[in-house]
Amino acid sequence: MGKVILIASGKGGTGKTVFTANAGAILARKGYRVALIDMDMGLRNLDLCLGLEDKVVYDLVDVLTGLCRIKQALIKDKRFENLYIMASPPSNKYVDITALHMSVLYKKLKENFDYILVDAPAGIGDAVLMSTAGADSAIIVTVPEHTAVRDADILYNILREHGISDIKYVLNKVKSEIITTGLVPSINEIADKLRADMVGIIQYDETIHIASNNGLPAVFKKGTYIEENFNNIVDRMIAQTK
Ligand SMILES: Nc1ncnc2c1ncn2[C@@H]1O[C@H](COP(=O)(O)OP(=O)(O)OP(=O)(O)O)[C@@H](O)[C@H]1O
Ligand SMILES: [Mg+2]
Repeated sequence: MGKVILIASGKGGTGKTVFTANAGAILARKGYRVALIDMDMGLRNLDLCLGLEDKVVYDLVDVLTGLCRIKQALIKDKRFENLYIMASPPSNKYVDITALHMSVLYKKLKENFDYILVDAPAGIGDAVLMSTAGADSAIIVTVPEHTAVRDADILYNILREHGISDIKYVLNKVKSEIITTGLVPSINEIADKLRADMVGIIQYDETIHIASNNGLPAVFKKGTYIEENFNNIVDRMIAQTK
């Protein structure tokens, strides 16, 4: 039976989509069957981040409204053995999705996939809350900024209220030369403020930024410190979500 992991953040732009794409690619490379679901309705990004934007025919709402079957909306990323994405709709105008829809979708996906990573929109809006229904765990992606850290802790509370008890965080966009100066919150200060446990730290690296702008997860290139770091993070995710 598969696991659904919600990738969320309070503040926008912390790196949820980039994290979803890279962690998904690593999981697939490890031999797991992986589905990535873009829940950022009206502002989809995951297809672009993986260079699959030209392959989107059906989306999540088409599945949930019965216009197509789940299989038809799953786009295979041919660069990885078992990596699929389901795009979100290009507009949120006609969206009438409920938590029940999401839990039924998760249940069906869990029959065929080992990991389902859900790329949530930023914040604590309806799309995030309905994505919690039936999710097994959550990873909050935050960055070393007071605003992002406070929002991450508020989100932690809300996710717990919605039934997710296994919540970890990833600290993304860390600039080692600044984080030690005291000018931005330090890693220890962030750990003290957040009730969730940390699952990993990701450096701010232009390579990650450039790769995602070119439709590639940065981990595609093997043998880099970025790939090794994501590998370690994913190993911890696997160990902690058993
Ligand atoms: N570790 C990193 N190093 C450098 N750039 C990064 C890193 N992580 C993410 N980025 C860049 O930060 C920007 C935001 O990333 P991304 O779109 O993944 O954030 P998001 O949390 O999904 O945003 P949104 O809240 O809008 O959905 C992108 O330009 C991305 O390339
Ligand atoms: Mg995003």
